[in-house]
Amino acid sequence: MKVFVNTPEKIAEMAAQRYVKLLNEKPTAILGHATGSTPLGLYAELAKLNAEGKMSYAKCTSFNLDEYVGLDGTHDQSYRYFMNENLFKHIDIRLDHTFVPSGLDTSAETAAAYDKAIEAAGGIDIQLLGIGNNGHIGFNEPGTPFGSLTHMVELTESTRQANARFFESIDEVPTHAVTMGIKTVMNAKSIILMAIGKSKAPIIKETIQGPVTEAVPASVLQLHPDVEIYLDYEAASLL
Ligand code: PGA
Repeated sequence: MKVFVNTPEKIAEMAAQRYVKLLNEKPTAILGHATGSTPLGLYAELAKLNAEGKMSYAKCTSFNLDEYVGLDGTHDQSYRYFMNENLFKHIDIRLDHTFVPSGLDTSAETAAAYDKAIEAAGGIDIQLLGIGNNGHIGFNEPGTPFGSLTHMVELTESTRQANARFFESIDEVPTHAVTMGIKTVMNAKSIILMAIGKSKAPIIKETIQGPVTEAVPASVLQLHPDVEIYLDYEAASLL
């Protein structure tokens, strides 16, 4: 794993350059996107670079990590809505080339079809990840088998609490989600994980310097041949 540490602004710029390079080398790249507060700086930077003509998404395909169960794409807390508002609207990607797991159809067949669609597209070139305070990647909570593919999960109380800030009350936070599995993520050719802020420092230390264990889902990244981790000074403060 390569670890880069700088300010939140600078790590967004540095990570964005990976996309400029990839999209210029491979305009048909398959991109795995993430939601949450962490990628917002990166997404703003990507939109700026796209507007400046530094790269184009016109031939790209996007697959998102996860979606809340029960929210359709027009709900303002759905991850489909988040992606449209925070990235897709601002870049030249074709909306019909963007995929987010269905929060309404949670059947095993539909989950399996998501993995098949990624495979049929040629596999993900860069998978972007945030990390939960409990080490989750996507919504793969601690204990998720490393061999898991796209599946429905029950969210932990700590994840629901962490995400309650976006909802009127904790009761409105969905209890379940559909997420790419750990294996789906590990199948990506390259992975970029970003973390910002002091609250992420303990889990970042465990992820990078602790044992590889299903109890810390992100620790599996130690086994991937091409992972870049972008941290601000606070998230890196315990390394
Ligand atoms: P955050 O979420 O970027 O909002 O901290 C990350 C995650 O839970 O994966």
